[in-house]
Amino acid sequence: MKKIVLVSQKGGAGKSTAAVALASALAAKHRVILVDLDPQGSVSRWASMAKLPATLQVVHLAKASDLKKAQLDADFVVIDTKGELSADALPFLDLALIPCSPSIFDLWAAEPTVALVKAHQGVRKDFKAAIFANRVKDGTVLGADVLEEIRTFDLPAMQVHLTDKIGYPMSIATGANPVSSGNSGIRLEALRFAKAVEDLL
Ligand SMILES: Nc1ncnc2c1ncn2[C@@H]1O[C@H](COP(=O)(O)OP(=O)(O)OP(=O)(O)O)[C@@H](O)[C@H]1O
Ligand SMILES: [Mg+2]
Repeated sequence: MKKIVLVSQKGGAGKSTAAVALASALAAKHRVILVDLDPQGSVSRWASMAKLPATLQVVHLAKASDLKKAQLDADFVVIDTKGELSADALPFLDLALIPCSPSIFDLWAAEPTVALVKAHQGVRKDFKAAIFANRVKDGTVLGADVLEEIRTFDLPAMQVHLTDKIGYPMSIATGANPVSSGNSGIRLEALRFAKAVEDLL
């Protein structure tokens, strides 16, 4: 069982959207539990009205330390956080994914999260982490300033991005998900993203 956390202290970076997209895409082939660790409860609220695939279960946990007590049984656990990744959860996780808009301000705002994740890698070599760009405009590439900044993080950057598509919030708002929505653009993108995440593990 692999545990993947979406983390960024920057509000609105795309943690919940990416968590839903990733969990739904992994559930096409695997048994997945999507854990909502955010008191805001966005993912739980979506789950309460969504038609979930049989391979996807959504669980709300009050605090990160509940991860070890919960006895989760799945191939993948995808965790949406409120941004702060409490240090006591890190030993139970395999991979941290940091979403970031492709703008220099957002990359700067990601620095504390990168520092936290890297500090944990210092004590646990098998803890993996990567940054990925979310809300990339269709048909654009990442600017040189953005690529330069990502390099200074000394953290792998995923080659696969999530583009800025209304289909993501739309699919969630209608109780579907990016894979089941019937929108082939976001479906393929979410599946490609999940494959790249599997390759990281
Ligand atoms: N790839 C995308 N395409 C279009 N809209 C997106 C995308 N990713 C996120 N959004 C939108 O951006 C906003 C913030 O996204 P989201 O709620 O996933 O961020 P978050 O990091 O979970 O925020 P919070 O810190 O409040 O939990 C939402 O309105 C969401 O619909
Ligand atoms: Mg959120």
